[in-house]
Amino acid sequence: MPPRRIIIDTDPGQDDAVAILLALASPELEVLGITAVAGNVPLALTARNARIVCELAGRADIPVFAGCDRPLERRLVTAEHVHGKTGLDGIALPEPAMELQPAHAVDFIVETLRREPAGTVTLVPIGPLTNIAAAFRTAPDIIPRVAEVVLMGGAYFEVGNITPAAEFNIYVDPEAADAVFRAGVPLVVMPLDVTHRALTSAAWLDALRGLGTRVGAAVASWCDFFERFDKAKYGGEGAPLHDPCTVAYLLRPQLFSGRHVNVVIETQGAFTTGMTVADWWRVSGRPANAHFIGSVDRVGYFSLLTERLARL
Ligand code: RIB
Ligand code: CA
Repeated sequence: MPPRRIIIDTDPGQDDAVAILLALASPELEVLGITAVAGNVPLALTARNARIVCELAGRADIPVFAGCDRPLERRLVTAEHVHGKTGLDGIALPEPAMELQPAHAVDFIVETLRREPAGTVTLVPIGPLTNIAAAFRTAPDIIPRVAEVVLMGGAYFEVGNITPAAEFNIYVDPEAADAVFRAGVPLVVMPLDVTHRALTSAAWLDALRGLGTRVGAAVASWCDFFERFDKAKYGGEGAPLHDPCTVAYLLRPQLFSGRHVNVVIETQGAFTTGMTVADWWRVSGRPANAHFIGSVDRVGYFSLLTERLARL
């Protein structure tokens, strides 16, 4: 079975970094490129952080592209309060030696989808959807060529994390999210409904440190850093490891369960802008456009992460 070919669109972000490491550690996947977008921190930092993670994994061969530095229509909202000033606070890692690719991320996405056989490239957006929407807007011909979009974003029963109604990735660029959810591509959505069940634990962090590797130490330190925000906000132990849910779904879909429903994006609401309105009970009559994931086998998820991260 040939590896599944993916493009990761990302705003690292400690949880993005773990998603990238999981992908690079998994031979079932071929990462064609990593495209950085403004989100958790400004673009210059997300493009830097993506390269730091590739070098940490010993994969300076992975092409990394810088994309959009602000949302399609709104000012940028960032999340240093969660991820720290650099976006990768926790362990100190060397500045990247690998260069950014000269092409714009949106051009890379368009050219890759036009070049590769239709239906062979999966997009894995784990930040605001600005790059993806810009690619679809620039080149609508690529939309039917996308195999699948497996994204982290949104919330329904779990409600929002950046506002009472909206999850961060969707909230930062609701117009981009609206374009992606309306595009008609096969769409798998990992909302807070599932990622808030993918909580780290002290035992898991100890197991990572016990690997005795730089990757294990880095992931443990990143989780230590960003879980302080969630512990203070939600109480309880552990932090939601949001973004790796997308890559884990590509590797072990059976770890997840959800429902194929209609999901629309609120872009006008005074209090609800950025909300993913998921018609879970199918009352709207609107056609289903997303496989909206609601639960995960937490033990299986973290076992997969440990096993794969140990390979790096
Ligand atoms: O709301 C969680 C999402 O916002 C994750 O992708 C995290 O990295 C941040 O980008
Ligand atoms: Ca992210």
